[in-house]
Amino acid sequence: MNLISAVVLSVLVNLGSGAQNLTFPPWFLFGVSSAAFQVEGGWNASDKGESIWDRLLHTHPDVIVDGTNGDVACDSYHLWRRDIEMCEELGVNVYRFSISWPRLLPSGFPNYISEDGKNYYNNLIDGLLEKGIQPLVTMYHWDLPQSLQDLGGWANPLIVDWFADYARVLYTLFSDRVKYWLTLNEPMVICDAGYGLMGAPFLDDTNIGLYLCNKHVLMVHAKAYRIYDEEFRHLHHGMVSLSNVALWFEPETPADTEATKLMMQFYEGRYAHAIYSKLGGWPPELEKLLTENGKREGYPYPRLPPFTPEEIEYVKGTYDFYALNHYTSKQVRKVDPDKAGSWPYYGSKEIGADMVNGPAWERALSATWFAIYPEGIYKQLLWMKNNYGVNNIMITENGLPSFEPTLYDLKRANHIRNILEQVHRAMTEGVHVLGYTVWSMMDNFEWTSGHKLKYGLYAVNFTDVHRTRTARESARFYASVTRTRTIPLHETMDFE
Ligand code: NOJ
Repeated sequence: MNLISAVVLSVLVNLGSGAQNLTFPPWFLFGVSSAAFQVEGGWNASDKGESIWDRLLHTHPDVIVDGTNGDVACDSYHLWRRDIEMCEELGVNVYRFSISWPRLLPSGFPNYISEDGKNYYNNLIDGLLEKGIQPLVTMYHWDLPQSLQDLGGWANPLIVDWFADYARVLYTLFSDRVKYWLTLNEPMVICDAGYGLMGAPFLDDTNIGLYLCNKHVLMVHAKAYRIYDEEFRHLHHGMVSLSNVALWFEPETPADTEATKLMMQFYEGRYAHAIYSKLGGWPPELEKLLTENGKREGYPYPRLPPFTPEEIEYVKGTYDFYALNHYTSKQVRKVDPDKAGSWPYYGSKEIGADMVNGPAWERALSATWFAIYPEGIYKQLLWMKNNYGVNNIMITENGLPSFEPTLYDLKRANHIRNILEQVHRAMTEGVHVLGYTVWSMMDNFEWTSGHKLKYGLYAVNFTDVHRTRTARESARFYASVTRTRTIPLHETMDFE
């Protein structure tokens, strides 16, 4: 299928006229993203084990807005050839996907490796490479084996060893061909949503379990990084990181500056400071605040489990690049902690601050929580460079949600263009951005929003047994960007 459209022509014409389109360097990686549970389906195919999302959706379908589940999803378990074809149509350099831990290790442990699981990922990896597309592999995108949840999951410190075993299997099987690895996707969501009734395992434990999880995700990541560093790097010369989700926060008024700093630490610093800062460990102001809050409530331990000096050193510096998932921005408003109520509500209460949309920021269709503020990513990129001194950043997720199934999604195409303009701006100001991957290649199972919320460059027909994928206008636009390595001037984006 040829995705050339009027948009591409406008880019080319514009290039020919010598107008100032923005060009990305040849090494810049354009990509698209997905995650195993959201696209694969085949939830019990062959010898696959049960994941915490399988369990949640089969026992509590009511937690999903439209009552759907991930049993079939996009059926990528069978349609992976078509997925590769779509990557080709889009002209991307990388495809980010995740491996389902219970598909590869049905018991959660390496006592037995599924042949079918292994073949599935080998086929996908080899198929991509044949087309010149680099696999960017997330080891864990939220689908923990239920067997490990039954043993305490992310609250059990033994998860550090369980994950290390899993990571070693992955490196052994695939790192001859996979050069980009992400250990965990959005630990913020693993802990804050998983222990805050927003995602599997759907626990209500925001005083103890959530903060145990906070420490364990960092230790898990560090150990998986170090295994690569010590046992595999000299053989395969790849790169390892973890994807953090970062909202850009700015104060609503100057009086909200301190609260904004804490909000930044709560959201991003809890999962980044230990790895990227020179100091290591928890962000100091946040650690102090949470310890005081816990004491006031009569808890004998600090909310954030302390790191030993050895652990601080062990976690610090465990990255080869900073992987950033960025979607939206918020303004921070200091309020009475008892009246604070933004998600995550406990974070808001701990800090005594709410998140609001900037008055001039447009909203993404009816998703009111999602403000469209492209400049946020520019500010975020500069902040990461200046705050942590990291200057090797890959944007591993970015996109625009919609409740509309329309193929004529000009808003999404424009959004991608405007975001890339801000990425380019940061690059011209000295931030080294390795690449950018769109979330998502196609509509998929959007967690508790089921199939209602759509992010896809391709629409998927979920009522069709063949799960037909159809390119949207945003796919055509993105294909033109990847082929020309250029984004058009704003005025050329008038599709009408
Ligand atoms: C972050 C997650 O990594 C992904 O799974 C999710 O679908 C997107 N954001 C959109 O919400």
